[in-house]
Amino acid sequence: MTTSPSLTRRSLLLGTAATAVAPGLLRAATALPRRPEAGGPLAHVYGRLGTPRGRMLGHAAAGPTGRTVTWLTTGSEPSATVVQWGVVPPGTPAGHVRQGRLLSSTATGTSEFAPGGHFHEDTATAQPVEGEHPVRVHRAELIGLPAGTEVAYRVGDGQTWSPVTTFRTREADDAFRLAHFGDHGVTVASRRTTAAVAAVQPDAVLVAGDLSYANGFQPRWDEWAGQIEPLTARVPLLPAPGNHEAKDYYGHTYRTRFATPGGGRNWYTTSLGRASLFVGTAGCFLTEHDPGSARDLVVDELIGLEQSLALAAARRAAGEIDFLVVAQHFPLYTNHATRGPFSPELVAVQEQVLQRYQVDLLLVGHDHMYQRSLPMAYGQPTGNALGYVQVVAGAGGNGLYDFADPDGPDWGQWCAAWSRRFSFVEYAFEPGRLVATAHGWADAQAELVEEDSNAVDPALLPEVIDSFTLTRKSTALVAAAAARAPRSAQEIVAGLPEAHGVVVRNLAEDCTRH
Ligand SMILES: [Fe+2]
Ligand SMILES: [Fe+2]
Repeated sequence: MTTSPSLTRRSLLLGTAATAVAPGLLRAATALPRRPEAGGPLAHVYGRLGTPRGRMLGHAAAGPTGRTVTWLTTGSEPSATVVQWGVVPPGTPAGHVRQGRLLSSTATGTSEFAPGGHFHEDTATAQPVEGEHPVRVHRAELIGLPAGTEVAYRVGDGQTWSPVTTFRTREADDAFRLAHFGDHGVTVASRRTTAAVAAVQPDAVLVAGDLSYANGFQPRWDEWAGQIEPLTARVPLLPAPGNHEAKDYYGHTYRTRFATPGGGRNWYTTSLGRASLFVGTAGCFLTEHDPGSARDLVVDELIGLEQSLALAAARRAAGEIDFLVVAQHFPLYTNHATRGPFSPELVAVQEQVLQRYQVDLLLVGHDHMYQRSLPMAYGQPTGNALGYVQVVAGAGGNGLYDFADPDGPDWGQWCAAWSRRFSFVEYAFEPGRLVATAHGWADAQAELVEEDSNAVDPALLPEVIDSFTLTRKSTALVAAAAARAPRSAQEIVAGLPEAHGVVVRNLAEDCTRH
């Protein structure tokens, strides 16, 4: 990693003034001079030294009312991690909110440096990047947020603050709205997706892997964090890692830059109101460079999937929730022109778990297109409510891919809807039913945007390209799923090569290199 000479000089001038935080004085912090620009050839992604950027809200382990807050600062100096927040009473003038008059509570957290340089996964080596600066990832947790209110907050080190921004906490869990897309990037189409999803004002946004397309070049993560901040500063982000996240130190960058709620090393669960959500890696961090680790990761995740779904199925049978949702990057089934799922063996084992507990919805990315299935089991439509609906929403902004047949898929009986458009999906989880709506852009230059996602019209508005409704599964199905106790670890992964130290890549195409 290289540091510009000006950064060193400015760092000395700044000293360590940012490290001491006196909570009682935080609200008195006013108009300090702005910190210097980071400078250098990548100055546009690094902003000002020690100045918060790239804010992301997330679901906290403490429960649905908790929020994690992460943000980034540039520079190597010690830097405190402070969030000020407060409830915004109805009718409060916007000026009062912006001025930070309502920030009566304080939370502190920790920080660590993000990985730097340009990592090459094939050789497991990293090179310095000209113009790169050290990046600190700050992480704090807000607990005890009141339900059904607007909350104002700002983040900083006690002296230099972000703008004051607001978000809403949920009143009740009976109308949760989730947005979903994957394969995002930093193109004009990516930014258009960010703006459109922010306009929908969902309760959370799932980005189903292939987030930044850094491909080892770490400054790209800072560029992407700035790109998505208008959305994630207000709406909790639920990330899933994709195969491109493996290119950044085999997932170490992903684990450092994101805060996710409780679960295992690679997976987590959270609540979407009347639905439970499990988010996993589906093997995307597998690497031949460390097959022992890969085995542990996949085995840990599959056991976590089975146990989490068994618990969720019991909650569904008890009437606490209505839907079981699983999210990951890789589709289990796809009609992309050339690619298949990551590993047929892993798909087989995963699907046994999904069917065992009668998962309702599988949300994925990876193939840069929209494709929605009928309720299906093992690649066949069930003709009834048995099985799950898979939604591929991989057209978040980083290019579009082709279907095997451009006139429409006629190979898979399971396929209910498809579209080769940049798109995202919205799910409204209500008591006993969920309503899904897919939005897509009718870009005129479809051939061009395949090559260059910056060629799209940023002002074009999306239109509805698909919608469907699911209802709570029958009492008999719900009861049968809840009656199945989690199997032993050996039983779950017995047929998986990775459990025996063998890493299997996709047998149809090498989809890890696209
Ligand atoms: Fe992708
Ligand atoms: Fe992918």
